This record gives sequence, C-alpha cells and structure tokens, in this order.
Amino acid sequence: MATIPSDPLMDTMQLPTPRLQGTLTLEAALKKRHSTREYLPDALTLEQVSAVLWAGFGVNRPGSWGRTAPTAWDAQEILVYAILPQGAWCYDAREHRLVRVRTGDLRGLTGTQDFVAVAPLNLVYVIDQQHLAAAGGIDPEEHGMLAGADVGCIVENIYLYCAGAGLATVVRGQIDRRALGEALGLKPHQRVALAQSVGFARPAATH
Ligand SMILES: Cc1cc2nc3c(=O)[nH]c(=O)nc-3n(C[C@H](O)[C@H](O)[C@H](O)COP(=O)(O)O)c2cc1C
Repeated sequence: MATIPSDPLMDTMQLPTPRLQGTLTLEAALKKRHSTREYLPDALTLEQVSAVLWAGFGVNRPGSWGRTAPTAWDAQEILVYAILPQGAWCYDAREHRLVRVRTGDLRGLTGTQDFVAVAPLNLVYVIDQQHLAAAGGIDPEEHGMLAGADVGCIVENIYLYCAGAGLATVVRGQIDRRALGEALGLKPHQRVALAQSVGFARPAATH
C-alpha cells in the first residue's frame, strides 16, 4: 500500500488505478450509509484516496470522458479538491491525478467543526460557473440549483463507496466559504459549495 508523498515540491501526484474490490452489494452499502463525525487521525493510503476520488467523480467511460456522477447538460462544472495533511490538491479526473494548489495542511479551514482537522481527507466541492455558462442552453437563474444537485450526486457516490469500503464520511455545509476560497486561490467564477470528510471512524463512534 503506497503512502501519500509529502514532498512539498511535487506539483502533481499520479493516482494508482483504483482497485474496486468492494465486498458489499450496492443494496448492502445503501443499508450501511450514514454520517460519521468522530475520526481517527490515521492516514489513508494513496490507493484509498484514488478509489474515493474515482468513485466520486472519476472517468468511467474514457471514450466520451463520461463520469461516475451525472451533471446537468454534462457540464462537469464541479471541481473536486482533496485537502490532505500534505497539501491541497485539485483532482484531474481525465488523468486520474492530483494537481497541487497549496502546500501545508489546510484541513482545519475546510469546515467549522473540530473533527475536520482530524479526518485524513477532506474533499471540497467547487462550482465553476464558467463551465456552466460554456455548456450553453442553461438559464443562468437555474445555475445554482443545478450545480447544487450535481454536487449532491458526487457526495452520494462517495457515501456509498465509503459504506462499501469500510470508510467513514460526512458531507458538510458548515464552512467559512470566503476563507476557504481564498486559501485555495479560487477565481471569482468559482465558489465553494460543500465539503466532505473521509477517514476511519473512531471505535464506538455512532454518528
Ligand atoms: C447539504 C448537506 C449539508 C450538511 N452539512 C453538514 C454539516 O455542516 N455538518 C455535519 O456534521 N453534517 C452535515 N450534513 C449531514 C447531515 O447532518 C446528515 O446527513 C443528517 O443528519 C442525516 O444523518 P445520516 O447522514 O447519518 O443519515 C449535511 C448534509 C447535507 C445533505
């Protein structure tokens, strides 16, 4: 199992091909799906990070760049950031790699609840309004509603993947979005929507 490299000069991190060997049926994962807010500080392996990102919004049809989650008009306007102890990275789904945007540990900035600084991976979902506009045909008044729904599809993919893989997760809206957006260097047309913590549940954690 590969560990996540901590070299601050590493600009891109190739992710291993996701090994998708869940032992649960989809129905069993649906039965287990729940939110967890108490995490062990244990790191995820690179393989686990790879599989979580692929399940959430990876490419599942390379011929057409189709993704594991649907998006309105196939705009694919959601950017997924992976905030790890080793830095903040943007997920490049087509190359299945992470592209560094910041060095240092920004996990504590991904939400206002204490556990976010403990969870080994915090995903941040960013809506890129230029992608929505470029998709054409969408009434700008509907952008917010559609993008929110698109984020929700990714979130649920990751809930179900985690349930099947024995990982813990919770989606979060309690975020200082301005501070987090600044820390990630977002552009004016990019907005933080939600975050999602992923890791290992502290034993006896019930929620
Ligand atoms: C859009 C959205 C935002 C949420 N924001 C938070 C949050 O900021 N913090 C948190 O602890 N849980 C958050 N949750 C998780 C819900 O509290 C949780 O899903 C709900 O209590 C039901 O619990 P369950 O997921 O275990 O079924 C959010 C869920 C959704 C769908």
